[in-house]
Amino acid sequence: MTDEHPEDAPIQSDDDTSRANLGRRILRANIEHHDRNVALYECSHPNLSHLYERYLLRRDLSELEDLLAGQQVRAVDVGAGTGRLALAFARRGWNVTAVDCSREMLRVLADRHQRLPAEMGDLTPAVCDAEQFLARGDEQFDLIAFSSVLHHLPGGLEILGDAARRLNEGGCLYVTQEPLPPTVPLKAPAMRVLKLLDDLFRLPQLVHRAIVRLSVPKHAVADGALIDYHVPGGLDIEAFEQRLAAEGIERRLLRRYKDRKSAVMAWLDTNLLRTPNWYFRYIGQRGGTDDPVQA
Ligand SMILES: C[S@@+](CC[C@H](N)C(=O)[O-])C[C@H]1O[C@@H](n2cnc3c(N)ncnc32)[C@H](O)[C@@H]1O
Repeated sequence: MTDEHPEDAPIQSDDDTSRANLGRRILRANIEHHDRNVALYECSHPNLSHLYERYLLRRDLSELEDLLAGQQVRAVDVGAGTGRLALAFARRGWNVTAVDCSREMLRVLADRHQRLPAEMGDLTPAVCDAEQFLARGDEQFDLIAFSSVLHHLPGGLEILGDAARRLNEGGCLYVTQEPLPPTVPLKAPAMRVLKLLDDLFRLPQLVHRAIVRLSVPKHAVADGALIDYHVPGGLDIEAFEQRLAAEGIERRLLRRYKDRKSAVMAWLDTNLLRTPNWYFRYIGQRGGTDDPVQA
């Protein structure tokens, strides 16, 4: 593993409210939380692995395969976690650098990669802060991916700009599991009812998580509230695309969907109920000639 010791970043006093300091505190909380609670990660995020999400991910990956056809792809998965995207990339024969601030999350990913057949793509785990990884190096890539990471980072747009600059001509940026600005508060009665229904549909998952929790002690984290830091108001898709356009990235795909814990509710809400709070998945490309795909 390459290792740039993200924990070594100095933490300034708590009353320093600058964004850099907030970023360091969030990073520190994330490292501690993910290193200590890695065993609970996947059963606490069923929205990232249920059947409907897998179907949506397969569609995105097939789009990426078409856009990157004919290349020996060099990919980066930023905030790779236990490898949802990085392993899917490696299974396609793409060589992947998996960047994550948590050594323990990357350890799980690396173990899983070792169990893949030998002809799969190589994996280079990098224990590193996303911001530093993207801003500092000069190596170029064909694919840079973010899944459920950008909205946790206060400097998301700058990080996106740095990622865009690290793409080769024809290279793709893939962003998924990011919230659009909410138009209805989550505590509104209708939203609460839907959450309740979602919880009912995922009762088996809740039982599974309760069993895992019994066998693995849950570690509290100093500054724990910051683990769940969300960029206020979700990601502004217009600012996001303007930033990317300034770096020469054109949209190839933008899909809105509902991030729910159960596959049934995710499907129902995306296709029938269409409640107002959406998430998005995006593919952009530097150059290339394909027609854009809309949501
Ligand atoms: C919600 S998880 C998403 C994991 C994975 N991308 C997925 O889709 O399953 C967020 C991951 O980002 C990592 N992370 C959070 N902040 C980071 C940062 N500033 N730099 C690098 N990794 C970060 C966490 O350690 C965690 O593994």
